[in-house]
Amino acid sequence: MRRMRLDRLLSRFGVSRKEAAELVKAGRAAVNGQTARDPGMVLDLDADAVTLNGAPVRTDAHFHIMLHKPSGVLTATEDGRGQTVLDLLPREWRSVGLGPVGRLDKDTTGLVILTTDGQLAHRLISPRWEQDKRYIARVEGRVGEDEVRRMAEGIPLKDFTCRPARLVVIEAGEDESLCEVVVSEGKYHQVKRMFGALAHPVLALHRQSIAGIALDPALEPGSWRELTEDERARLYAVTELEE
Ligand code: URA
Repeated sequence: MRRMRLDRLLSRFGVSRKEAAELVKAGRAAVNGQTARDPGMVLDLDADAVTLNGAPVRTDAHFHIMLHKPSGVLTATEDGRGQTVLDLLPREWRSVGLGPVGRLDKDTTGLVILTTDGQLAHRLISPRWEQDKRYIARVEGRVGEDEVRRMAEGIPLKDFTCRPARLVVIEAGEDESLCEVVVSEGKYHQVKRMFGALAHPVLALHRQSIAGIALDPALEPGSWRELTEDERARLYAVTELEE
């Protein structure tokens, strides 16, 4: 069941959470025909009919979140053993049906997008839709022009050949190098396997962006925010879906 607090739902439509709470207290919202008085009332988004000033409020709109995943957290919706990205959200956000767009390894940090729109999530990770994912990788050894060329040609792995990837060497040292790599597919451990095939094991991996949506630099590890209207519009435009 998808649940959400009444004031949170109303605050998605141009008023702040505080203003939404005041509107509810003033008797301007109704749930299933009854005037609501409690801004914290928990709605069943699939069943309850909500109005504000007598006009219907959409409960079927999708939710989209960006989150800065810290190391040690699983990109899953539930796990008996470890902390998941959903555990980083306040309780009220855990039951609206959010799922991650692709997965990061437990030790990878950076951008995770969560959405309630399964079709959008599917298109964002499907190789057919070729959405770029940008990573910063700290790897062992000195990376140079040869590795840039081999990434651009497509690295052959045991079970498949990777699509051409863009590699930019940010800093090359004797012991380690810092690189930016852009891939348009997202197979299991793909970036680590690509660098592994080039004999540069990954020491740390961080995702910067998905489909042109960059991790907000104001988000500390473990924090999150809803996508802005522009970000949402971009994701629907690049996947050729209707919002
Ligand atoms: N590639 C990897 O190897 N790991 C990740 O977490 C993401 C991409």
